[in-house]
Amino acid sequence: TRTAFTKAPVTVTVTGAAGTIGYAALFRVAAGAMLGHDQPVHLRLLELPAALGAAEGIAMELDDCALPQLASVEIFDDPRAAFDGVQQALLIGAKPRTKGMERADLLSANAAVFAEQGKVLGEVAADDVRITVVGNPANTNAAIAARHAPDIPRSRFSALTRLDHNRAIAQLARRAEVPVTAISGVTIWGNHSATQYPDIFHVRAGELSGEALATDRAWLVDDFIPTVAQRGSAIIAARGASSAASAANGTIDHVQDWALGTAGDGWTSAAIVSPGVYGVPEGLVCSFPVRSDGTDWEIVEGLEINDFSRARIDASVAELQAEIAAVDAL
Ligand code: NAD
Ligand code: LMR
Repeated sequence: TRTAFTKAPVTVTVTGAAGTIGYAALFRVAAGAMLGHDQPVHLRLLELPAALGAAEGIAMELDDCALPQLASVEIFDDPRAAFDGVQQALLIGAKPRTKGMERADLLSANAAVFAEQGKVLGEVAADDVRITVVGNPANTNAAIAARHAPDIPRSRFSALTRLDHNRAIAQLARRAEVPVTAISGVTIWGNHSATQYPDIFHVRAGELSGEALATDRAWLVDDFIPTVAQRGSAIIAARGASSAASAANGTIDHVQDWALGTAGDGWTSAAIVSPGVYGVPEGLVCSFPVRSDGTDWEIVEGLEINDFSRARIDASVAELQAEIAAVDAL
């Protein structure tokens, strides 16, 4: 049966649409998994000229799903046309790192792309645009895009740390021997990089508190934190390519919570432009504990930060500052 939709379609532009994350994300976005099953979408696929053929093939496959939510699919190699009137911009298109690289090694390759895309978004995006940067180094790419779009409110820019957040939940569920649904209160602080700090001090894991789990410092320091922070590298080593389906899944979770609101009094993690809270300098795109009312991310304030956490947050913030300084030097 076909659904009659009452909502106007939302325009979603996906960059790097023919890449591995794009392929894993598009079909779910088109099927309503991101913005709701009652929400039709106009899908815009932005690709480099060399990948337009692949994008055509994906558009054919999207057609062949006969998805009720999919109002239209269009393909572009021109960012200005692809972003014209965009409401949800998923900036995935960028070079991924390969074995032996750190995400920051992508800085110079990707900085120019995000500067240009930020500028164009500022000129042609819809007034209610929300921007999610997935392409690495995601935090600094988002900061660059935001700087080049002075007319878009800072609160509309974000970078993905939801994948890290979900990775932390999965590790905690395994450790506490509870289902993932029994985990709450996780925070990823800082950069989407090996310096990120997955904070468990406010966690509930079924009957267990994060404080209780953290009394096993050897597990926390030598197992949990590096497992979460270096999961991207572990996947590249195992798979021979960077995470894709899990990254697409994190992207969908992130936009869904932002656009439809986070449930209850819990929180998730997202990298957003710091307003200067929790000791994070204003303007850095840093991961925080956040919730959304369906319009804007709001940082969960007032969480106690112990010395163990403070040192680790500061280290990741220092890396974010160094990345911005490196971009300024380019
Ligand atoms: P991929 O190489 O499979 O696909 C990237 C696609 O982007 C390619 O099709 C390419 O043609 C396209 N592209 C490159 N530059 C573009 C541009 N300027 N405009 C439009 N399209 C462009 O890579 P992937 O595995 O899909 O990963 C994409 C990015 O996401 C990488 O930077 C990767 O490191 C990053 N990533 C981030 C997270 C996260 O949690 N933040 C997780 C996984 C991967
Ligand atoms: C990840 O976290 O899996 C991605 O950012 C890919 C990478 O380079 O680690």
